[in-house]
Amino acid sequence: MIEVSNLTKVYKVKLEKTKEKKAQKVDKYAVNQLNFVAKPGVITGLIGENGAGKTTTMRMLATLIQPTEGVAKINGLDVQKDSSKVRQQIGVLFGGEPVLYDRLSARENIVYFAELNGMDRETANARAEVLAERLGLGKFLDQKVKDFSRGMKQKAAIARTIIHDPSVIIFDEPTTGLDITAARVVYDFLEQFREEGKTILLSSHSMYEVERLCDTVVIVHQGQKREEGTLPELKAKYNQERFEDIFIELIGGVNHE
Ligand SMILES: Nc1ncnc2c1ncn2[C@@H]1O[C@H](COP(=O)(O)OP(=O)(O)OP(=O)(O)O)[C@@H](O)[C@H]1O
Ligand SMILES: [Mg+2]
Repeated sequence: MIEVSNLTKVYKVKLEKTKEKKAQKVDKYAVNQLNFVAKPGVITGLIGENGAGKTTTMRMLATLIQPTEGVAKINGLDVQKDSSKVRQQIGVLFGGEPVLYDRLSARENIVYFAELNGMDRETANARAEVLAERLGLGKFLDQKVKDFSRGMKQKAAIARTIIHDPSVIIFDEPTTGLDITAARVVYDFLEQFREEGKTILLSSHSMYEVERLCDTVVIVHQGQKREEGTLPELKAKYNQERFEDIFIELIGGVNHE
């Protein structure tokens, strides 16, 4: 379970000086009083335009950055006060960020991370092999990551992310840049996590993925929640068949910064 209450992240952004004004620092509300709950056994989509605050929210949930205000809880544990316990219960994947050491094999990467999470090497190795098989990574497990394709790297990153069997999964754009078959592996995993009763928070810019995977969505815009609900609820409320049209109706007409 993920519970977010009044979560806020303010960055100080430097404005360069102009003829009229001196250089100054202004507050940028990346996330602004956000509230939502993501429940177990459900895929919750965190959906918004570029810069809406999705990654910032997920980074706070993942204990990577501190909230400026508000509280976020993972399985009842405060991400700020109980950060080390929280880390044991979450599997996080941020698209586009290198999470693997190129000079190590996939197995070495996965087992190293598992040991950091308190698993013993033997268990980690056994589980790495099972995961590699499920991900279609089997014969690549002992090859160096630097020779991997993007899809293979992402599969290894996923194995690393879930090696400690976390009950809460936070995936930020996990399929960006992946081909159809590699994306399919990610979809299958997410669906399996849902069956296993895990809590899943997923961000994506793909309307196809939202329709295919998300049970419920939280739509964010400029750091604030615009709307939330299950897809059928929102389709009935906005009298639209496609989520894309609901999204455009909510966000499209808004003035941009
Ligand atoms: N370290 C930082 N310093 C200053 N501003 C930041 C920082 N990180 C993020 N921001 C700003 O906060 C806002 C939210 O960014 P964030 O990365 O969370 O958006 P996002 O919804 O993940 O977007 P995208 O879909 O492009 O990944 C943006 O305006 C961004 O420029
Ligand atoms: Mg992002």
